[in-house]
Amino acid sequence: LRGKGQPEIDPKATISHIAIYGAGIMGSGIAQVAAQSGYKVTLWDVTQADLDRGIHTIRTSLARSARKTGQPADWVQSILSRISSTTDQLAACTSADLVIEAIVENLSIKQDLFSRLDKVAKPTCIFATNTSSLLVADVSAKLGEERKQRMVALHFFNPVAVMKLVEIAYMDGTSPELLALLKAWVHDIGKVPVLCRDTPGFIVNRLMVPYNIEARQLVERGDATIEDVDTAMKLGAGYPMGPFELMDMTGLDTGYHIMKAWYETAPGLSGDPRFKPSPEMEQMIRDGYLGRKSGRGYYVYDK
Ligand code: 3HC
Repeated sequence: LRGKGQPEIDPKATISHIAIYGAGIMGSGIAQVAAQSGYKVTLWDVTQADLDRGIHTIRTSLARSARKTGQPADWVQSILSRISSTTDQLAACTSADLVIEAIVENLSIKQDLFSRLDKVAKPTCIFATNTSSLLVADVSAKLGEERKQRMVALHFFNPVAVMKLVEIAYMDGTSPELLALLKAWVHDIGKVPVLCRDTPGFIVNRLMVPYNIEARQLVERGDATIEDVDTAMKLGAGYPMGPFELMDMTGLDTGYHIMKAWYETAPGLSGDPRFKPSPEMEQMIRDGYLGRKSGRGYYVYDK
């Protein structure tokens, strides 16, 4: 996007304050990496308890990095001082240059959030969703045309502090200038951007979800055990985690919501029986087997 001879873009000239909606695993991770790179961050969630949990996650992750990289004693606190938190949904974004939404994977809840923020955010504010399965076109459906042109997906990966990739998914009306700015911003927070058209699952989930489904079906058919599938993919394919370890880390409910959304509505994918959540999967979710976050999924974890 940047032709030869054009100046480097300084993202900090346009983006200094970032509002992040959702203080869960993804939202707190995004808040951490943004603050670590010098941005002022406001983190929003529904309750103070949600925010406290999010800030605790950030503090723990920063402390881990500080130990690894031998940072001075005040390093963690200096980064945390750039993050404020609030349960006031509208106030969180009034002075933001970039909004990143990482709330529950539910289309109408996301649409309603963005539509409320649209009324109070600066006209220049960029809107981004961290959706793992929905289309930016659908999430932005209730926005005015001007804001739609400033709306993309910025899709991060778990654990955010470690995973180097950010997918930037764009719509037909997204300007090259906005994409160039966001690419520069992603580089500035120490990550690597890739671009993808606004399609279900973008690049990574479009490939990874069918792989996870095949792994489940292999075990549901009784062809191999969970442990052997994980060992096979780590030692035979060089993946850092097996598919069941990975599903436990990302959350079985996350995988379920992606499959359900694709099976029900995704263009080109809806009605595909591969994506119909199996009764076994639905039962596990009903019984609270959500993965690491609930202490049990395919494996059992110390809380
Ligand atoms: N905060 C800070 N640092 C962390 C961290 C955290 N939360 N978690 C791990 N680290 C650091 C460690 O300190 C360590 O640093 P070092 O290399 O300098 O020593 C490094 O990361 C590796 O950590 P560990 O040694 O503890 O663990 P592993 O070597 O087993 O790596 C892993 C852990 C990075 C999670 C690796 O197993 C991995 O890459 N797994 C695959 C993860 C993946 O595929 N994520 C994508 C999921 S899909 C998704 O998120 C999309 C969504 O839409 C569903």
